[in-house]
Amino acid sequence: MSKIIEILMHEHKEILKFVEKLRGMCLDFMKYDKIDTAEFYNAVNFIKTYADERHHQKEEELLFKAMVEHIGVRAENIIKYGMLIEHDAARYNVSSLEKAVQAYEKNPTDENKLDILCYALSYCDLLRRHAYKEDNVVYHFGVKNLPKEVMDRLDIEVIEYEKKYL
Ligand SMILES: [Fe+2]
Ligand SMILES: [Fe+2]
Repeated sequence: MSKIIEILMHEHKEILKFVEKLRGMCLDFMKYDKIDTAEFYNAVNFIKTYADERHHQKEEELLFKAMVEHIGVRAENIIKYGMLIEHDAARYNVSSLEKAVQAYEKNPTDENKLDILCYALSYCDLLRRHAYKEDNVVYHFGVKNLPKEVMDRLDIEVIEYEKKYL
């Protein structure tokens, strides 16, 4: 397996582990009506820095960019009208989740509680479906259709990209 796909699929595993944890936090909040807001802010931070900045932006800047450039309209349909729209939906969910936690801190009403659960669980559902599609369809499509020299270049660029996180 190419380095870039190996790294991206590993990140999906980490994101999906996090999603299970976030669902557990929501379940506890629903059952016991208690929330550790610091834990939810940590979750928001993980989504912004790891799932979005490190993972989604890496897909956008490297693999997806190359797919649109080198494969053409079929890739453009999958990437621009599928994956990138879902990345934006994930960004909307996390910013709404952050606002909902802030609102609940100021005013712990049932409605503000509902918003936290709604945005957190929407994020979880979206990411599960999104990662599944990439693991099973989008990455295979890219690897199958990108020229070897482009895949080799992406394997070098992904190592460079990861250096800022070392
Ligand atoms: Fe993605
Ligand atoms: Fe992904």
